[in-house]
Amino acid sequence: MRHRVLLDVDTGRDDALALMFAVLHPDIEIRAITCVEGNTGLENVVSNTLKILDLLDAPPIPVALGARRPLIEPPRDASWIHGVTGLGDVELPVSAREPEQIHAVELMRRSILDSGTPLTIVALGPMTNIALLLRTHPEVSDRIGRIIFMGGSATIGNATPVAEFNFWHDPESAHIVLTSGIPLTMYGWDLLWSIKTSTPQIAELQASSNPIREVAGRLLGFEASDPSNGAKVLYNCIGDAGTLCVLVAPELYDIVRWPVQLVLAAGPARGQTLVDRRAIPGEDSVHDVAGDVPVIEVVGAARNAQILALFFDTLGEA
Ligand code: BDR
Ligand code: CA
Repeated sequence: MRHRVLLDVDTGRDDALALMFAVLHPDIEIRAITCVEGNTGLENVVSNTLKILDLLDAPPIPVALGARRPLIEPPRDASWIHGVTGLGDVELPVSAREPEQIHAVELMRRSILDSGTPLTIVALGPMTNIALLLRTHPEVSDRIGRIIFMGGSATIGNATPVAEFNFWHDPESAHIVLTSGIPLTMYGWDLLWSIKTSTPQIAELQASSNPIREVAGRLLGFEASDPSNGAKVLYNCIGDAGTLCVLVAPELYDIVRWPVQLVLAAGPARGQTLVDRRAIPGEDSVHDVAGDVPVIEVVGAARNAQILALFFDTLGEA
């Protein structure tokens, strides 16, 4: 099955890995790429995205700049783990590709309306662009087949003890998407963090004569340091790329439908995902105070070894 997708990215080391997978996988057709501030500043996101497209020798794909900050919160990047440019210590030639002269929201609107069949949106950063699209052009909702997003968590967070970065960065946008009524698939932090590459796998990639594999190895092997004590921190998971693995190989995961909501209140739980996995009704539903909570697909357990094999195979010959 061929998937026609619109990618929304905040490239970022693992968004770069996701772009590699999306461009190279034969079952994925990228109709447009929209950029959002998140892991790094918007100019870095665009520049990194275009450079990775060059590295992949990708065909022309429209790329547009989107939101420069979340709806309410100030922008707070993750440069401590993605590096100053967002690509760790990977340096690539500046691309001659030009972004579109229209805003990401308009590129998404046109791509969705121009597509004969409903598009899938793959959201790999904070969901600001998508929330703006849904609020500005609500008529496109019916033409979106599904939004599969990296965001949230059924267990722990990363940005805070309970909030995952993309949800924490712009909780209001995530809430707008969660309550949109569009079919949703959540690929959360708890799963993302479980699919890690090994030191020998990274070394093999870094030694490859295939430049795509070599860059992937350097993105995976970049050592960040804990700002509080300088300790080395490895972010050696395939990260956002795993979201695209769900798209092309859902049989490698357990996907369950659960009620999911997000904490918007100020305080230590802001941005937390509440995934309701209770087996029997609670007093909240018995007394009818639970409210309407959207039921969405949540990606659960994964066949990690097979997923890593899918990812590495897609990157091409060693
Ligand atoms: C998310 O934030 C970034 O670090 C990754 O690109 C991923 O989208 C994980 O919380
Ligand atoms: Ca991301």
